[in-house]
Amino acid sequence: MSKIDKIISKKNKSKIVCLTAYSKNIADVLDKYVDIVLVGDSLGSVLYNYSSTRKVTLTEMINHSKSVRMGVKKSLMVVDMPYKTYDTKALALKNAKKIMKETKCDAVKLEGGKKIIKQVQFLIKNKIPVLGHLGLLPQTVKGKFKSKGKTTREIRQLMSDALLLQKTGVFAVVLECVKTPITKKITKNLNIPTIGIGSSVHCDGQVLVTDDILGLNETKIKFVKKFLNIKKYINLGIKKFALDVRSKKYPSKKHSY
Ligand code: KIV
Repeated sequence: MSKIDKIISKKNKSKIVCLTAYSKNIADVLDKYVDIVLVGDSLGSVLYNYSSTRKVTLTEMINHSKSVRMGVKKSLMVVDMPYKTYDTKALALKNAKKIMKETKCDAVKLEGGKKIIKQVQFLIKNKIPVLGHLGLLPQTVKGKFKSKGKTTREIRQLMSDALLLQKTGVFAVVLECVKTPITKKITKNLNIPTIGIGSSVHCDGQVLVTDDILGLNETKIKFVKKFLNIKKYINLGIKKFALDVRSKKYPSKKHSY
């Protein structure tokens, strides 16, 4: 069974676990526990302090993905296509091929439904697996980040986009900040898995930004749960190194040639 078929087969059986990685050492750890490693364009705000993911370049995504690839052995590796890299069918294919070839990832993720369906269709026709992304779309959001699926119009749009993406052949759909009732309905109506981020427990899987759940990246987003305060441990280690250098305890003979 292919890695993608394995993900699809989890629908209605076991939850899909997905986290982001931007480099090898984190990917190495994630690979032991997750089903999908996502090189998300969230790296723009998390690592580079960009005001929006729109500023992330294809080169940045490829370079980080190359590093992640070294750590991912068994999980499915998905790379986000950055803003403006899939505006047309031809551009989407050219850039997706470049991402696949240079990073050796298993699939790409594009944000949107009907508006980008021709690009999604073209990639799948050319044997590039696609992970869909609906709900709050950070690359194209106007104004404040708000949850989706509150109005009848939004609910209809979400459902029809999800069904359209499924018909086009995406292997799963990320639902970002989608209200619980419509998340439940979409998940029930699709044969492919939904992977939620801020979209309730009713999805077939969950994705979060690793730096957020480890407390490396300070954030107050409602759906983020801090599973560890890793900064506490980094502080301890760095403080000890600084103390040992200043007191000449390091390097001892053991660490000298
Ligand atoms: O960029 C990202 O990290 C994402 C999320 C779904 C986590 O797209």
